[in-house]
Amino acid sequence: MQIISKSLTFSYNEKANFSRRALDGATLTVNEGDFFGIIGETGSGKSTFIQHLNGLIPLQSGTLTVGEFNLTVPKKRKEKKAFLKSLKQLRSKVGMVFQYPEYQLFAETVREDVAFGVKNFFPNASQEEVDFKVKKAIELVGLDYNLVAEKSPFDLSGGQKRRVAIAGVLASEPETLVLDEPVAGLDPVSKKRLMSLLHTLHDTGVVKTVIIVSHDMNDVMENCNRVAVFENGKVVKECEPKSLFENYDDYALSRLGLPVTAYLTKTLKGVGVNVESSYKIEDFTNKLIEKYFENR
Ligand SMILES: Nc1ncnc2c1ncn2[C@@H]1O[C@H](COP(=O)(O)OP(=O)(O)OP(=O)(O)O)[C@@H](O)[C@H]1O
Ligand SMILES: [Mg+2]
Repeated sequence: MQIISKSLTFSYNEKANFSRRALDGATLTVNEGDFFGIIGETGSGKSTFIQHLNGLIPLQSGTLTVGEFNLTVPKKRKEKKAFLKSLKQLRSKVGMVFQYPEYQLFAETVREDVAFGVKNFFPNASQEEVDFKVKKAIELVGLDYNLVAEKSPFDLSGGQKRRVAIAGVLASEPETLVLDEPVAGLDPVSKKRLMSLLHTLHDTGVVKTVIIVSHDMNDVMENCNRVAVFENGKVVKECEPKSLFENYDDYALSRLGLPVTAYLTKTLKGVGVNVESSYKIEDFTNKLIEKYFENR
């Protein structure tokens, strides 16, 4: 489903005199099938924006549609009631993985933790169906069900805990998966594995659309087909990551930092070596090696 946000504006504590706009007219479109990156300095409104996508934060001004859902809160009481009821359906379609989701694990076993998500979204499911869905979600995140199901989530590694938390969200079988800084705090190997898991979920159609908030420009360059840059609650750029990073003189970009590949392209160009920028460091290195042998 397509997500269209127009002039989304939001202030926490709207009515208080110390209120400040967290979103100030954010406009962007995420198409079905995108692996979409949301970047921007700290406090630019990224987390506030994504929490609008499944109605966790109610719309104050502007418009937002997520597939067939119009997130404008109706004024009439009766319509409002129906609207709030429909949010549950929306939440099952837009899975939200918060930052450090492992802190939200609470059950005694991995199986019970994931089952909580299943029961929440499929209240009429039989025990057999719940068991089936739990097993499926655990396997989808690349964990061995027989090894982890009866373990306490707290006995798992950081990367594994995060997978369990993602399994809990996948349990509702969402079409769109939204993740707030999904690899923050993981070691480089776990980081790579988790990004690769997200790609597998996307490529195999388990989820149609992935939206990630990231501070890591390398992640964005390597993984996303589109990217939006937030600044002071606005979307100041929305494009392919490559065209964003090639335009490295841009003020907004200079404050975000460059991915390694874009940095190398720029630096080498400065000394007269033109190597086309690549998304992946491995591809970039190969191009550099080719260039080296060409000139010998
Ligand atoms: N619960 C809250 N109550 C009041 N103000 C908040 C709340 N959450 C965020 N803000 C403010 O809203 C603005 C946008 O915050 P938000 O968390 O959306 O930014 P962000 O881009 O996700 O930042 P970061 O990269 O640090 O996660 C900031 O000025 C922040 O201080
Ligand atoms: Mg944030």
